[in-house]
Amino acid sequence: MKQDITAVILAAGESTRLKSKTSKVLHQVAGRRCLDWVVQAVTQAGISQTVVVGGQQMEAMRNSLPAEIKSVQQKQALGTAHAVKVSAAVAKRQQGQLVVLCGDAPLITAATLKQLITQHHKQQAAATLVTAELEQPHGYGRIIRNHQQPSQIVKIVEEKDADDQERAIKEINSGIYCFEQAVIWELLKKIKKNNRKGEYYLTDVIDLLRQQQKLVGGLRIKDANELLGINTRQQLVKVGQLLNQRVINKWLDRGVTIKDPVTTWIDDQVVIGRDSIIEPGTQLTGPTKIASDCVIGPYTTIHASTVGRQTVVRQSVIDHSRVGAQVKVGPFAHLRAGNKIGDRVKIGNFIELNRSQVAANVKIGHLGYIGDTEIETDVNIGAGTITANYDGYLKHRTKIGSQSFIGSGSIIVAPNKIGKNCLTGAGAVLKAQANFPANTVIVGVPARAIKKRKSQSRGKNRDKKQ
Ligand code: UD1
Ligand code: MG
Repeated sequence: MKQDITAVILAAGESTRLKSKTSKVLHQVAGRRCLDWVVQAVTQAGISQTVVVGGQQMEAMRNSLPAEIKSVQQKQALGTAHAVKVSAAVAKRQQGQLVVLCGDAPLITAATLKQLITQHHKQQAAATLVTAELEQPHGYGRIIRNHQQPSQIVKIVEEKDADDQERAIKEINSGIYCFEQAVIWELLKKIKKNNRKGEYYLTDVIDLLRQQQKLVGGLRIKDANELLGINTRQQLVKVGQLLNQRVINKWLDRGVTIKDPVTTWIDDQVVIGRDSIIEPGTQLTGPTKIASDCVIGPYTTIHASTVGRQTVVRQSVIDHSRVGAQVKVGPFAHLRAGNKIGDRVKIGNFIELNRSQVAANVKIGHLGYIGDTEIETDVNIGAGTITANYDGYLKHRTKIGSQSFIGSGSIIVAPNKIGKNCLTGAGAVLKAQANFPANTVIVGVPARAIKKRKSQSRGKNRDKKQ
């Protein structure tokens, strides 16, 4: 790829049709901001210089952009031509090409951008634009071709300014162009606000080029979906589904079974090992890694976590945690942030784990809360065990030594330490800082009578309260 190419991504529009306080380019689609998908495609195409034109939400926009991506602010959204003009401060060169893209069309691929640049060079055009035929072209600019030489584009007419005949044209403007730097900047000065929307339209450049007898080429691509823009909420949903489908297809091709692509959502940065099976209703988000031969789902959400090989997670939620190999989680377990789970652990129904380290071969089968706790290997935690880690002010830690057996319904008030090979009886309440040495059998506190209860008349009391 030639290195004298600069990309400008337009992202300063007002997002009127989305009816949102957040700019459309900053909305999440398939786990990533709309704009970031476009930036990724440009970077993957090997275009080394990129300028984003931002609007009112510059700071938020810059937030997750890579440092090498430059940005300029268009203070007032006066139209796409004006936005490109504003970019001149950073993007303008004497020679080379200017590739213009819309920040609201995140499905564009690096392959199409490369094709656009290649064709532009081959034809030695002044401008080349990406087009496609859409069954429902409503809302897009329509491509008017030269009758005698259909390979040449003479004009783009915006939906709002089109007559019935023009509106019937199905070939649409993608908003993605490759211009010669040597001609574009002069032409931009000539564009007037002469349309219904009262904006400076970049699309008017095409008509001006034709008037100067300059060649405008068109790269008509087959997969029209690649050009879909996000202007409305319905389009936001549709584009999200298509991006998700693209990610799912990638993992299907790499040997992962995804049983129901429609109800499964996988972020682009997720990694999944071969022969893993993703059951319906599952969401894998953030930097999540699933190793090979796992079964994840149904109805499971895993965010920013790693899962070792041959692990099974059913109907559960895992967040910012590391889970080992051959682990069984769920159904209905909740691993909140900061857990590290060793190999062959079993975490059963209705277990909540928080900031805890659980070593290999531990079983935590049913109904419990384990927070700020370190559990050594081969421990069995009985049903209904609670680590009471919060005294109302501070969180405290618990440690349970290897091979200990915690009886059902035990309450361990933290901070506390239970040595190796201890046993607690069912219903034991371990006071804070009791710190039991290894090989201890711990029982109690049994319930005891503390005072007499006055006779009650429920009806009467209720009347009194009223
Ligand atoms: C634009 C094209 C249309 C094309 C469609 C493809 C024009 C006049 N029309 O229409 O031919 O079919 O894209 O999706 O160019 N923006 C700015 N500053 C502005 C206005 C817009 O940065 O002052 C940005 C927007 O954030 C957006 C992009 O430019 O990312 C396109 O603007 P938008 O208002 O969505 O134009 P469309 O009506 O979609
Ligand atoms: Mg648009």
